[in-house]
Amino acid sequence: MSDAFEPRILAFLCNWCSYAGADLAGVSRFQYPTSIRVLRTMCSGRVDPLHILEGVRSGFDAVFVFGCHIGDCHYLEGNFHTAGRLEMVRDLFALSGIGRERAQLRWVSAAEGQLFANSVAELTEVVRELGPLDREASSLPLSALAATLASQRLRWLLGMEHQLTEVGNVYNEKLDKGRYLELLGEAAVGEYRKALVLESLRQGPQSVRDIAEVSGLPIHTISMLLGEVQKAGKAELHSYEGCAPKFIRL
Ligand code: FES
Repeated sequence: MSDAFEPRILAFLCNWCSYAGADLAGVSRFQYPTSIRVLRTMCSGRVDPLHILEGVRSGFDAVFVFGCHIGDCHYLEGNFHTAGRLEMVRDLFALSGIGRERAQLRWVSAAEGQLFANSVAELTEVVRELGPLDREASSLPLSALAATLASQRLRWLLGMEHQLTEVGNVYNEKLDKGRYLELLGEAAVGEYRKALVLESLRQGPQSVRDIAEVSGLPIHTISMLLGEVQKAGKAELHSYEGCAPKFIRL
């Protein structure tokens, strides 16, 4: 990788811990790369997966989230949610080829200026190794990720985390946190694949083979997903090329 590449990184810093930690690093004159652009949030739990994707889509090479240590969240459980969501985003980034390492999470308290500086230096090096994100080559997966993270199914699951794992349903049945994260991960992968198919159809009528070529999905998976999106009224049969059916997005 070229030595000339200097990553541009968006960093979300929790007001109550990491932001003060970054401040301490500054007044203590701890050295760290100038790669980050800081956005202060009241809690790392306020960082929506869509904010992370938007950072990457809008020109940053990676997004870092810094929050209070587990157990120290000012709002009690905000950072528990952050941890699960970040893992889901990292899994999706890996699946899409964007790169898992482009989303990072670290816990840094207000007293850990040195840890903040070290974390920024270490993570910037990871992104430097990855190189710049080729947004043109990644435009299909980036659009599919945006559709995935905005999908009703995922928004519902993200919004219901506390209810499902802490409060329970009308029968007081609660989901184990591990099972919830499993369901979230499965939903994310399912929605991403569906979004890939639908985003491929934006280029006009496409056969299953055309979609396979641009999306990299196996043909049998595409056939199954096309059935699902047709049932949902999001695509339909358009024409035939020889005996190959072509589909369009509605
Ligand atoms: Fe810092 Fe919640 S207040 S992570």
